[in-house]
Amino acid sequence: MKSSLDQGPMKALLRLVERSDPNECQRFAQWVNTHYPSRLPLEARTVASPDHFSFWVFAADSGEKGELLGATSFAERTPHLAETMRTVVAPDYRGKGIGSLISQLIESEVRDRGYKKIRTTILIKNLPMIWIKLKQGYLVEGLHPHHELPDLHEYSLGKMLD
Ligand SMILES: CC(C)(COP(=O)(O)OP(=O)(O)OC[C@H]1O[C@@H](n2cnc3c(N)ncnc32)[C@H](O)[C@@H]1OP(=O)(O)O)[C@@H](O)C(=O)NCCC(=O)NCCS
Repeated sequence: MKSSLDQGPMKALLRLVERSDPNECQRFAQWVNTHYPSRLPLEARTVASPDHFSFWVFAADSGEKGELLGATSFAERTPHLAETMRTVVAPDYRGKGIGSLISQLIESEVRDRGYKKIRTTILIKNLPMIWIKLKQGYLVEGLHPHHELPDLHEYSLGKMLD
């Protein structure tokens, strides 16, 4: 599924990663891990799992080949709740509003697929991402100290979708 959104001068669209294609899953995981080094690297088998939806983000007006702006994902937690994760902007494009744009695009995607709530967990020091979500109406719903690993502290932020 494709969706696009216009924010100021930049238009972008999401292109779903084909999870039945092992090479694409591997390429996606590698791209995310290269541009967002993490103590918990994304694995290709996660990208391939049936409850995961991973997207490349392309500039909408960049022609056939497409200019890659970033990546994002969500996982179905329940038929009501989708959890977004691994929103990554290509380094050359950071600080230009693309992170905000991708956050809006994945929210639209989740809403269009019928989920009623969206949430995400964010490392407590990741102020740009926390700021983006707060500006888009998310509320801080929890603090999770030593959450997925020791010394890895996260907030969860959530939003009801209407
Ligand atoms: C986090 C990330 C997605 C943000 O993307 P981006 O395109 O640079 O973000 P934007 O330009 O849309 O917006 C950043 C906002 O954070 C604000 N900001 C930047 N540094 C900040 C800080 N230290 N404290 C508070 N706000 C800050 C900016 O002012 C901007 O807000 P504004 O639109 O009100 O001016 C990008 O830096 C990235 O890919 N990082 C690596 C991966 C990552 O951390 N992903 C999040 C995983 S949860």
